[in-house]
Amino acid sequence: MHASDTHISPASAARTRRLRALVDSLRPAFLLIAGDLVRDALRVGEAEATSYYELFMGELAQFVTPAWTVPGNHEIFGIEQDKSHVEATHPLFGRKMYQHYLGPDYYSFTYGGVHFVGLNSVDVDGPSYYGHVDSLQLAWLARDLARIPATMPVVTFTHIPLVSTIEGLNGYTDAPPAPSVITVGGTTVFRHVVSNVTEVLAVLRARPHPLALGAHVHAGEKISYEVGGVRTRFEQSAAVVGPSEIGPLTFPSGFTVYTVRGGVIDEGRFVGIETGP
Ligand SMILES: [Fe+2]
Repeated sequence: MHASDTHISPASAARTRRLRALVDSLRPAFLLIAGDLVRDALRVGEAEATSYYELFMGELAQFVTPAWTVPGNHEIFGIEQDKSHVEATHPLFGRKMYQHYLGPDYYSFTYGGVHFVGLNSVDVDGPSYYGHVDSLQLAWLARDLARIPATMPVVTFTHIPLVSTIEGLNGYTDAPPAPSVITVGGTTVFRHVVSNVTEVLAVLRARPHPLALGAHVHAGEKISYEVGGVRTRFEQSAAVVGPSEIGPLTFPSGFTVYTVRGGVIDEGRFVGIETGP
């Protein structure tokens, strides 16, 4: 099962509990929660950020279903220093708060003949986050893929999506707090998708890569590319924290149930937080 964007706080914790009740009732092999686990750690102080993390960890511990996570932009601690007033020397600054609570922010495991790879797709430039998979992870990914059989399919999961069209619906904005683009090292890139996606896909071409799961957009989204007879689906989960309105479209809150059989992943089935299965 693929869920994301729980954005937990005391006000929204009931929605994470509803997710748990639904997921555990469906008895899946495991759950992926693809980031934006907490309400926010970017622009708040230590006490508020850790209160959300502690709340999330308490809820996570109550899942019967094994759950795997990757960090979202809201897990990155304190980088908006004009608001957080956190020093860069703080031991939990940036991605370290996520690692402190949840362990490695990239890793892999194999289930049902499919290799699952979680990556941290949130990079930081000064006070801003942007979609990017760093060179350390890319080097690790190449080594990781070299260890699995050549025909084994790979499913990736990240918070900021590898590919998304949501900016086309949202429209361009250069206003804070989440402008559409960022200039890093002299190059201007879209920041709500993985800006070095071609580098990531170049590494993943070493193995079949049928499915790339993402989050961040707060909308169920399914995109498919077929190149040279090789198909990759890019699929974003809806947000657990609530439905999302983009113009005339209302995207319901929920998660996606996938079935893996013989190394093949089905189309997935949406389960609404309000409606249930
Ligand atoms: Fe996000």
